[in-house]
Amino acid sequence: MQFDNPVTRMLGVEIPILQAPMGYIAKPDLVAAVSEAGAMGLVPGSLGIEEVRADIRRVRELTSKPFGINLPIAFIRDVAIVDMIVEEGVRFVTTSAGSPDTHTARLKDAGLTVFHVVPTLRAAQKAVAAGVDGLVVEGSEGAGFKNPREVSTMVLLPLIASQLGVPIIAAGGIADGRSMAAAFALGAEGVQMGTRMVATKESPVHENMKLAIVAAAETDTLMLNKERGKPVRVLRTQTTSAMEFDNARDAMELLGDIAALYERGDLEASLAQCGQVAGRIDAIVPAGEIIRKTVEEFDAVLRGMANHYLGTPTPA
Ligand SMILES: Cc1cc2nc3c(=O)[nH]c(=O)nc-3n(C[C@H](O)[C@H](O)[C@H](O)COP(=O)(O)O)c2cc1C
Repeated sequence: MQFDNPVTRMLGVEIPILQAPMGYIAKPDLVAAVSEAGAMGLVPGSLGIEEVRADIRRVRELTSKPFGINLPIAFIRDVAIVDMIVEEGVRFVTTSAGSPDTHTARLKDAGLTVFHVVPTLRAAQKAVAAGVDGLVVEGSEGAGFKNPREVSTMVLLPLIASQLGVPIIAAGGIADGRSMAAAFALGAEGVQMGTRMVATKESPVHENMKLAIVAAAETDTLMLNKERGKPVRVLRTQTTSAMEFDNARDAMELLGDIAALYERGDLEASLAQCGQVAGRIDAIVPAGEIIRKTVEEFDAVLRGMANHYLGTPTPA
């Protein structure tokens, strides 16, 4: 399978699959495993500068292949992280959760490739006007913080692809070659996987969280805090189900005790960010195997469709 498209060329990778940046989860072992497999791991930039710098350096010890970093603008602890990324020689950045005007010019002046994460067409137009190289187009079925006005990947991707001419990486609902092929048919040239990468051997979260993803049905996530303007898609548990239609408690308070979940495996004590695609995930496997199998399945799905729909028609 030869991808060779604008995304592979811009990112310098063989395979246009990104592992999503996930605070405390996308640690160097996971990032490096994805990059070693020919795809691209992303280091989350939501931690302190020195911690992120240490993660970048550790990834470099584990792999010589390209990797990138995410700057979640609203959650950055110290804006000097932008200078650190430039100093460390990172080549690819995704920016999210904030205005694309904030850092794009500085990053591009320093020679980095910048993609901005967008949940709507309007946000995509603003990002392109700000000068980004490409977009991560993320549908509302994905895990984590979302736009209060939900649009699924199925609607958002072809809409943005038809209106704007920049390369698109699809996120939200992608876990295998079939969903990757669907995203490409809708206009993407790369995909990003979040929930799928949590349930991997290299993911450092407690086994209980991985097993909960494997056990989840497609109906086992819900959006909390919509009324507070900061919706977050999480796994359905007793605690989160009780909060689904009750706005009295701010879900953000629960996020504070993430160690209870990630380290001690207490699913009721915090919020497990999780996408609807958990309903399609049925095993905990090494990240490199996910990349390899996704490419194989992508190839098989495209060939199958071409044979079926474009093959020589048999005479009636
Ligand atoms: C456990 C978890 C934590 C996440 N944390 C972050 C984060 O810190 N920053 C961020 O930009 N996205 C975060 N995300 C969202 C992912 O970057 C990604 O866009 C999303 O998971 C894609 O949808 P999917 O889960 O259907 O693959 C997180 C996702 C998960 C599953």
